[in-house]
Amino acid sequence: MNLYAFILGRKHLLSTAEILHVLDPKDHIVDITHEALIVDLHETLKEPQESLNRLGGTIKIAKIFSELSLSQSDFASPISEHLIRLFSDRDTKLSYGLSMYNFSHGYDRQIKNALMKIKKSLKSEEIKSRFINKNFKNVKNAAIAGEKLMEDGMDLNIINGTHNTYIAETVALQDFKSYSHRDYNRPARDAKLGMLPPKLAQMMINLAGFTKLSDQSQNTSTLYDPFCGMGTVLTEALLLKFNVVGSDINGEVLEGANKNINWHIQEFSTINSSQLAQPLFAKDATSLESKDLPQIPDCIVTESYLGPPQKHLPDAKIMKKNFHHIQETLIRFFRNAHPLLNPNTSIVISFAAYRDKNRIHTMDQLPEQIRNLGYKIEPLIPKDIAARHNLKSEQSLVYDRPDQIVGRQIWKFIRT
Ligand SMILES: C[S@@+](CC[C@H](N)C(=O)[O-])C[C@H]1O[C@@H](n2cnc3c(N)ncnc32)[C@H](O)[C@@H]1O
Repeated sequence: MNLYAFILGRKHLLSTAEILHVLDPKDHIVDITHEALIVDLHETLKEPQESLNRLGGTIKIAKIFSELSLSQSDFASPISEHLIRLFSDRDTKLSYGLSMYNFSHGYDRQIKNALMKIKKSLKSEEIKSRFINKNFKNVKNAAIAGEKLMEDGMDLNIINGTHNTYIAETVALQDFKSYSHRDYNRPARDAKLGMLPPKLAQMMINLAGFTKLSDQSQNTSTLYDPFCGMGTVLTEALLLKFNVVGSDINGEVLEGANKNINWHIQEFSTINSSQLAQPLFAKDATSLESKDLPQIPDCIVTESYLGPPQKHLPDAKIMKKNFHHIQETLIRFFRNAHPLLNPNTSIVISFAAYRDKNRIHTMDQLPEQIRNLGYKIEPLIPKDIAARHNLKSEQSLVYDRPDQIVGRQIWKFIRT
């Protein structure tokens, strides 16, 4: 068994959908909970950190070394045994952290009990140790990295599953520094455009279905972004080894996108400049022609026009007007693109969604209108998996932040 726990990000269903899209058909999904997805992989992850770097929505990957029935509450014994087995010869102090996932409440006391017992067992074996948990809370990724637990210590996880409790050792940690470097240090940024966070761009690219968790080799697929803005989808796709094509109605924006692409090529040696399949071009996406795309793309991943930036929730009239404008543009884009694309081309696209305290306002008729133009809606959480794991089969998923008015609703269409 190659049991792994993927600890999910804040938007756990989107994180789940992303993982489901990069697994191999031979991998077996064991459990899906709010905070973790448990999977029996058909082969061990050879480069877990490389695999995690390809997933925008996963916080940690942990290898499961013990399974307990839900009635068992002695989590400390299997952890102590694991640490003693690995570190019995160690003469310097061992640092470790412990986090619990998917426990409803009051887990601080359980973390405290487990940590005290583990420390005692290690001491009885003459292993000097210190845990890094503050106030018996879960350990943050920044602390795990800061304390170098991955290099010289251990980060441990107790995950409450539907049928079992899983005990796991972290083998990869989300590289938050790299995401922030890509987001904030790229040369061209324009907040007014509504720049996509690199993590979300990566999740959307993975949802297109051309990437695999363990496949680091050159991807021969071509990805096209017809509303490319400053190029976040394109630069993330370059990192995922796609050949990319991009266009935007606004030529000035393309200068920024080119700067960002060149910056990525310089910063990341894994990117080959030939992956930019043709120069970025200025074009209204609603009037694309086949001569614009000498290479027919295998997938389209794009954050479409989100409408004007909003400081406050627009009133019903303005919202209707904005939605109407976005909707018109997108319908014209999908209608016009249909004859240019091959059957089965996947299109992952984000639509604007306005968020108020109580609900999310979305363009409810748009997906059905797109379906009528010769596209199929592909649920982001497939129906069979949803049924097996007691989830709702989500057709689309929303990515938003509590402090933002305009959120994003992610959809996947297949050209029929
Ligand atoms: C939300 S931005 C995309 C941002 C991009 N994902 C990024 O991270 O930089 C939408 C882009 O759509 C472009 N746009 C709007 N209407 C368009 C159209 N009809 N055809 C092509 N591009 C269009 C805008 O110029 C803008 O750059």
